[in-house]
Amino acid sequence: MRATATAHPNIALIKYWGKREIARNLPAVGSISLTLSELFTEMTIDLDGHDVDTFALNGEADESLLPRLASCLDNVLGPDRPRAAISSRCNFPVAAGLASSSSAFAAAVVAADAAAGSGHAQAELIRLAGRSSGSAARSLAGGFVELDNTGEDVAVHTLLNPDDWPLRVVIAVTESGPKPVGSGEAMEISRKTSPFYSRWVEEQPADLEAARRAIADRDFRRLATVSEHNCLKMHSLMWASQPPVVYWNEATMSCLYTVRELQAGAVDVFFTIDAGPQVKAICTAAAEAAVRDALATTRGVVDTRVSGLGQGAHVVESM
Ligand code: DP6
Repeated sequence: MRATATAHPNIALIKYWGKREIARNLPAVGSISLTLSELFTEMTIDLDGHDVDTFALNGEADESLLPRLASCLDNVLGPDRPRAAISSRCNFPVAAGLASSSSAFAAAVVAADAAAGSGHAQAELIRLAGRSSGSAARSLAGGFVELDNTGEDVAVHTLLNPDDWPLRVVIAVTESGPKPVGSGEAMEISRKTSPFYSRWVEEQPADLEAARRAIADRDFRRLATVSEHNCLKMHSLMWASQPPVVYWNEATMSCLYTVRELQAGAVDVFFTIDAGPQVKAICTAAAEAAVRDALATTRGVVDTRVSGLGQGAHVVESM
């Protein structure tokens, strides 16, 4: 009745922003992401003899994520489930726009399923992870991953395995504190108030198709163009919300200039930014050192992390 699972966060190139149904947390749009290899969340769930649910992050009791984790376990194991001691180890800052909820909930669903021996099929684990966090569904798979939102429930599949196109991701951390407003809440503000929201939803299938084709052809420049466009559209609609949802800081903008300079020097790199001020630069292996050096010395960057593409969430221990 105890299991540990590891999951890696994923970075969306074609983004999920907006929900079509709150109750089941269904996204309004499909998305395409890269699952990272170097960042991870390892989650242990112990279902033996606990009176209440508890959660510890990196060895410290943490109340902030407990309600969402408890409801995640309710979804996987049913409301009459045994109470759980949940502990997590994470090698990157949480709730800071580094996609920590994607790896946390993917790992939680897989660990809970293994701890209870529920034996849910992969498609069901994906659906359950998505209920807790839309992006978490994508961390069930590795490499280049597409989330299809067109069915009754979300479905996720790998477009390319990590070794098929081993791109690198350099993360420029510009601030390590928690973000001012969570993405779920911010999406609802955008849906209700942004004049650009409906156009965003309408255009998503075309961006998904362009990215799908670029990935199938391993065409870096085409993937760069559609990914940057999709990212800037998402942030534009956030900025035009009331109240405005602005996750960027000065260093975020400085990083974009750095990426533009690298591109002007024919370096294969493009940027993407999620619900936080960090900039993720996707590049070829040959460009990695130049991209990392340039971002590490950009004004306001406090840290850089480098990752390749990784595998989907999996059980590491079960007993
Ligand atoms: C900007 O998956 O965190 O990173 O479903 O409410 O938990 P919830 O949202 P979440 O949103 C991710 C938003 C994004 C884009 C993306 O990852 O596709």
